[in-house]
Amino acid sequence: MCGIVGYIGPKEAYPVLIKGLKRLEYRGYDSAGVAVLQNENIVVYKCQGKVANLENLVAKSEPLIGTIGIGHTRWATHGPPNDENAHPHSSEDGNMVIIHNGIIENYSPLREELIKRGHHFKSETDTEVLIHLIGDIRQNEDVTLFEAVRIALNEVIGAYAIVVMEKDNPNQLIAAKKGSPLVVGIGEGEFYIASDATPIIEYTKNVVYLDDEEIAIIDREDGFKLMNIKNQEKTPYVQELEMKLEALEKGGYEHFMLKEIYEQPRSIRDSMRGRLRPNSDQVELGGIRDYIKKFVNAKRIIILGCGTSWHAGLVGEYLFEDIARIPVEVEYASEFRYRNPVIYEDDVVIAISQSGETADTLAAIELAKSKGATIIGICNVIGSSIPRATHAGSYTHAGPEIGVASTKAFTAQVTVLTLMALHVAHQKGSITNQRLHRLLIELDSIPDKVQKVLDQNEKIKYIAEIYKDVHNALYLGRGYNFPVALEGALKLKEISYIHAEGYPAAEMKHGPIALIDEEMPCFVIAPRAGAYDKIVSNIQEVKARKGKIIAIVTEGEKLIKEMADHTIEIPDTEECLMPLISVIPLQLLSYHIAVMRGCNVDQPRNLAKSVTVE
Ligand code: G6P
Repeated sequence: MCGIVGYIGPKEAYPVLIKGLKRLEYRGYDSAGVAVLQNENIVVYKCQGKVANLENLVAKSEPLIGTIGIGHTRWATHGPPNDENAHPHSSEDGNMVIIHNGIIENYSPLREELIKRGHHFKSETDTEVLIHLIGDIRQNEDVTLFEAVRIALNEVIGAYAIVVMEKDNPNQLIAAKKGSPLVVGIGEGEFYIASDATPIIEYTKNVVYLDDEEIAIIDREDGFKLMNIKNQEKTPYVQELEMKLEALEKGGYEHFMLKEIYEQPRSIRDSMRGRLRPNSDQVELGGIRDYIKKFVNAKRIIILGCGTSWHAGLVGEYLFEDIARIPVEVEYASEFRYRNPVIYEDDVVIAISQSGETADTLAAIELAKSKGATIIGICNVIGSSIPRATHAGSYTHAGPEIGVASTKAFTAQVTVLTLMALHVAHQKGSITNQRLHRLLIELDSIPDKVQKVLDQNEKIKYIAEIYKDVHNALYLGRGYNFPVALEGALKLKEISYIHAEGYPAAEMKHGPIALIDEEMPCFVIAPRAGAYDKIVSNIQEVKARKGKIIAIVTEGEKLIKEMADHTIEIPDTEECLMPLISVIPLQLLSYHIAVMRGCNVDQPRNLAKSVTVE
């Protein structure tokens, strides 16, 4: 988490930095800061709160003039969010500043050592220790700025994406990365540095994604040079960005989250584009073509993810077991990596991540890779760390997701998992031609069916109004819709701060039923496909205890309509495709409830979109 941005070139740096920080704010929004080299002095502005606070602070001050600068938006790890802990941080002599995304794990002994050597610290951050260390080396060992950064990075343990700027070095920025992402945009006589490509896209399409332990020397006169911390020169690989600028704007919607919910007919179609061939009963997944035999022969699939991506993984479990007949285990990446799991060489591991940067998922991938398993990625952000760490994979192509609560990324992940399961099943011969044909035709119709649910927004908003003040909520689903119940509950709690739990409906009687009274709304996903009769019984159990039922039902449903307090009708589809449709009303309900409660929907408190710390 944390967003970092840097600029060096002929333009004024501050406008580039502040705009970049706004684009990166989804990564953290506890505090923000900028530093610009102005008339041979480093001028720093930083403060607690969002980027807008920083902008106000700078607006009230003297104009910030200079063509080289760095900026940061923070998600606090070491030290609470306050002005002192905000980045940039300065070296002991104030001659250099740093911005940092990541965690320096051995900051404590380094700090003690530096204090003994006469250093004074103003903040509680690990980052300040790193810049003091770099400054100390630069002063005492009479080395270049690059060398000082390189030597220091050899002493630190942990993760970092950093940019360092020095007062006496007005033509140079040094950037480095390990664990946290960093991309350099190469313009005409100018360079942009950022945590992801979103601050860069409007200036240049040519970018270099740094690899771990690489250090970029970015010089106004000498251009871009890539080294590593062992002091070896590397050849930069310049890639062309495919992202479009409009994808980063709200496009007339009040919030990114609403825009992203509404984009789903398009994003699901984009996930299937060129892959789904219903007329020839084929699925083509070019990214995993060379690994299809591994899938076909796999005795087991392990799916890794965190948060919403983990929920998509649970849908993947149902899909692969049902259609491809391969046993699946779905694991929280954070648990998997620390519990000495049994991993076989013929395991196929599917790592799911919207950002492609989640630190726990990355570490779990490395562990599985070290045991010889085949790692397949399902990621949204092109060029991010996870796709680069995997053997192969398929991008979801949902386009940039900016709202912190994941919506279109979830449906895109489930779409790709469905295509993968169908492709593997077809290759393996575990699906009949008739079923494959039926499912492909049906999958092709999902975007239109999602649109039909979106068209009911006003009704969903009306229901949201009724339940906006509750303190607790229960989400129930069975089979393929159990992960949807979990995802519905997560959406509500993360953006509206209402306590919510998702349960397999039948498990309700083993505990949650004790919570049910007339105050408790139960959102029940009860389409006709699946264990319909059973879920009708679960609804009756809730009603018998005076709970409120809001049921997601299939169009034309009669029985549940008579029992439920409210129903939302969704188009019918095959059971295994239902999560793609049934999740939509739950996303909209959470969105409206959060807006009505006055919550910051796109940037909920304490959360960040890209969790690059463990
Ligand atoms: C954070 C985000 C969630 C996301 C999770 C996993 O918690 O707020 O929306 O589901 O990280 O992120 P990933 O990028 O790996 O999917």
